[in-house]
Order: sequence, then structure tokens, then C-alpha cells
Amino acid sequence: MFPTNVLLAESALERIPKEIANHPSVVSDARRRNKPVSAILLDKTFHYGAMGKLKDKEKRGRPDLVHFALLSVSSTPIYMEKKVKLFVHTIDDKSIEIADGTRLPKHYCRFRGLFEKLLSSGKSDGQVILRGWNVSTLVDKISPSKTFGLSTLGSETTLEKFVSKVLLEKRPCVVVGGFPHGHFSEGTRSVLDEVYRIHSSSLEAHTVLSWLMYELEKQSKNQGLK
Ligand SMILES: C[S@@+](CC[C@H](N)C(=O)[O-])C[C@H]1O[C@@H](n2cnc3c(N)ncnc32)[C@H](O)[C@@H]1O
Repeated sequence: MFPTNVLLAESALERIPKEIANHPSVVSDARRRNKPVSAILLDKTFHYGAMGKLKDKEKRGRPDLVHFALLSVSSTPIYMEKKVKLFVHTIDDKSIEIADGTRLPKHYCRFRGLFEKLLSSGKSDGQVILRGWNVSTLVDKISPSKTFGLSTLGSETTLEKFVSKVLLEKRPCVVVGGFPHGHFSEGTRSVLDEVYRIHSSSLEAHTVLSWLMYELEKQSKNQGLK
């Protein structure tokens, strides 16, 4: 049923963590971009040398993947028709609400600038809104009738069967990991009612989300809900 809430959880989108703020690769990147260290996003491409000792480093520093993943939702007809509501939870446990129908920047530099501004100033432009909520508070606020997780550790099913379960719910929420490697943390697992694996391989979040959007649109048309 619509709207279907889609939550990109533990997304690899965060500011430079304090413990590596003085590392030379971080300081030189901030200088090159003419920004304070506290106002730039952690990015493995530039800060790899600094990330060695960070906890959960394999899940962090990939804002480019978060960009693809969000575009895979926000550029679809079903999202533009406001039948999908999009939320981002970050690896450092912040929540971002994307206002209905928001067109996110397609160019990576503009996407990075938008989220750097949001995360460092906390100021909203009305389209991306920073909330001081951890993942469990975010899910409480969404108030889903059922929260579905997608993970390679879930019960095997097909995308078609998964979406038919989602569409049976009054107010479903589907949680996809916004990280490049690894699995959901205990905190995220605790908000999931059911967890499914929809393919034999581990897929990229943007692939999972594109397939999900297409199948939601196809099945909802077949059910005459459109
Ligand atoms: C790059 S993967 C993260 C890697 C993680 N090891 C995994 O396979 O679940 C990003 C997200 O895509 C989703 N995903 C990837 N492959 C999947 C699959 N075969 N079935 C269900 N969800 C999948 C999960 O939500 C996952 O957190």
C-alpha cells in the first residue's frame, strides 16, 4: 500500500569523525577544498590512509554509493508520484527526511555540497531535513505497520513475492543498507520485523532499490491501485 516508506540505513554518509580530524590526508583535502575539516564528508577515496583504525571502517566513507542509491529511488515515476517516502539513516546514527517529491542533485559535487551543508549546519532547505533521531526513533516516527529488512542474511524469497508482501501492508517500511560491505548492526536489526534475501548474490544498494521501485510500480498497476 502507499506510501511505501524506504529507509536507507547505516548509510556511509557522515562528516569527518573527530578521531581522524588531524590526519594529514584529511587536513590537506580540507585545505584543497577550502573548507574546515568539520564541514567535509568522510570519503574513502581521499581519506583512506586516515581510516585504518576507524571502527566499522568497511561500512564507512562511501557517500558516492549513497548518492547512487538515493537517485535510484528519487528518479523513478513512483517516487515522483509521492507513493514512496524516502528516509536516510547515517552510519553515525543521524536521520534525514527527504521531503516528498524532492529532486536530488544528479551531479555528485552538488549532492556532496548539499549534505555537507546539512550535516555541518543542521540547517534545512525544506527538502532535506536533519532529525536528531537514532534508527529506532526514526522507525517509531514513521510508525510502520511492518518493517521489512533486505539483507543477504534474510530468508530466501523472490523480489516478486517480497513486494507482494510489502503491498499487503497498510504502512510498510523497507530497510536497505546504505553501506558498501558488512551487515546491519544490532540496532538496525532490532527494528526489523522480517528480513529477506531477494537474490543469490550480494547486490549493490542502488541495484536493489531500482528493482524494488520497478516491482512496486508494476505490482501496484496490476492491482489497479494506480
Ligand atoms: C552492498 S550491500 C551490503 C552488503 C551486505 N553484505 C549484504 O549483502 O547484505 C547493500 C544493501 O543491499 C541490500 N542487498 C544486497 N544484496 C541483497 C540480496 N541478495 N538480498 C537482499 N538484499 C540485498 C541489503 O539491504 C544490503 O545492506
